[in-house]
Amino acid sequence: MHAFTPTAGLAKPEAYRELSHQFSSLLAHERDGLANAANLTALLFQTLPRINWVGFYFFRGGELVLGPFQGKVACVRIALGRGVCGTAAQRRETVIVPDVHNFPGHIACDAASRSEIVVPLLYREQLLGVLDLDSPDLARFDSDDADGLSSLANQLVQKSDWTWLVG
Ligand code: SME
Repeated sequence: MHAFTPTAGLAKPEAYRELSHQFSSLLAHERDGLANAANLTALLFQTLPRINWVGFYFFRGGELVLGPFQGKVACVRIALGRGVCGTAAQRRETVIVPDVHNFPGHIACDAASRSEIVVPLLYREQLLGVLDLDSPDLARFDSDDADGLSSLANQLVQKSDWTWLVG
C-alpha cells in the first residue's frame, strides 16, 4: 500500500499542502466516507510529528460515537458539549487546547496527551462529527494546524459519500 511521505522538517503550511496532495490521490479512487476517514487517520498518524492519538467521532443518535482512529483505546461515546470534542461539535468550530489539564471537563483517554485540537466535520450545515488529534507535547497545535486540518477535513467531507451516516 501507499508509503506516505513524512512531513517532519517541512514548515507546517508546506507539510499540510503535501498531505493534501497525498490525500487527494487516496480520495480519487474511493467515495466511501468511513473508508476515507480511516485512511486519513493513518495518513495523519504516520506523517505528522508529535501525535499520540488521531481519530474521528461521528455524530450519531444525538451524541458523538467513536469512529476510525490510531492510538490507544478511547472512550466510545461523548455527549454534545462535553470534553473538547463535544465542545467543538456543539460550537461547530475548531477548538485548540494548549494544555488539556487546564481545560475544564477534558476527557482523558490517553494519560500521555498534553495538548489537543478538534475540528468539526460539517456537510451542508449538518454536523457529521469531529476530527480529534492529541499530542504528548504542550501547545503542539496552532492556527496553521487548524487551517491545514480543516482543509483536509473539508476535502474528506466534499469528496466522500455520507449516506450511511446521514441517510
Ligand atoms: N480528549 C477528548 C476525548 C477523546 S480522546 O482524546 C481520544 C475530549 O476531551 O473530548
